[in-house]
Amino acid sequence: MSKVTVLKHPLIDHKMSQVRNINTNTKAFRETVSEIGALITYEITRDFKTRPIEIETPMAKMTAYELEKPVVIVPILRAGLGMVDGIHNIIPTAKIGHIGLYRDEETLEPKAYYQKFPKTIQESVVLVVDPMLATGGSASYAIQVLKEANVKDIRYVGLVGCPEGVQRLQEDHPDVSIYLAALDEKLDENGYIVPGLGDCGDRLFGTK
Ligand code: PRP
Ligand code: URA
Repeated sequence: MSKVTVLKHPLIDHKMSQVRNINTNTKAFRETVSEIGALITYEITRDFKTRPIEIETPMAKMTAYELEKPVVIVPILRAGLGMVDGIHNIIPTAKIGHIGLYRDEETLEPKAYYQKFPKTIQESVVLVVDPMLATGGSASYAIQVLKEANVKDIRYVGLVGCPEGVQRLQEDHPDVSIYLAALDEKLDENGYIVPGLGDCGDRLFGTK
């Protein structure tokens, strides 16, 4: 069974209260989602392996440590884009892939419309990024696409999940760790997370 980590940090809680608030405007929403992405990155990377590297400081030679594997960030379009800058600020060497999905409004099933991955993706640690884990259909589909591309080390990173989405992801991909800033109560009859933060893509890009 995959591990679920719900981050507990006063700064993350504080910023989540801002993005959840209906009165937060598009600019502040977008900036804060990105900032939470940066804060979450500490937790996602906690167990990343490092390898020794011989370097010279201005004072002496020493053994330092660098990340063993390259990192690829894969946002699920559109809303995943909102977290990318924050994560990339902390791991600037990461490459970025994209997968475009939207939920069919009737069936809530993910529909794919775009994908493009860097060549190094197979040997990389891949962070699948999507703020909302609702039914779990989009995240599960994206992870399946990556597995079919022969990616072995995948983690899911989101802002708000709910029990339905977590269960679906754990069942479909028991090998993929899940990182969330918050785990909410439930899905409503339209597939929205309650209390959640509303439609994340629309709030990021001002499309409603
Ligand atoms: C939203 C969200 C997730 C998905 C989550 O995307 O950004 O990708 O729904 O729902 P699920 O867990 O039930 O699959 P949406 O389809 O609204 O597209 P958008 O990001 O382009 O707005
Ligand atoms: N997608 C969103 O943007 N918000 C939800 O609550 C569920 C899916």
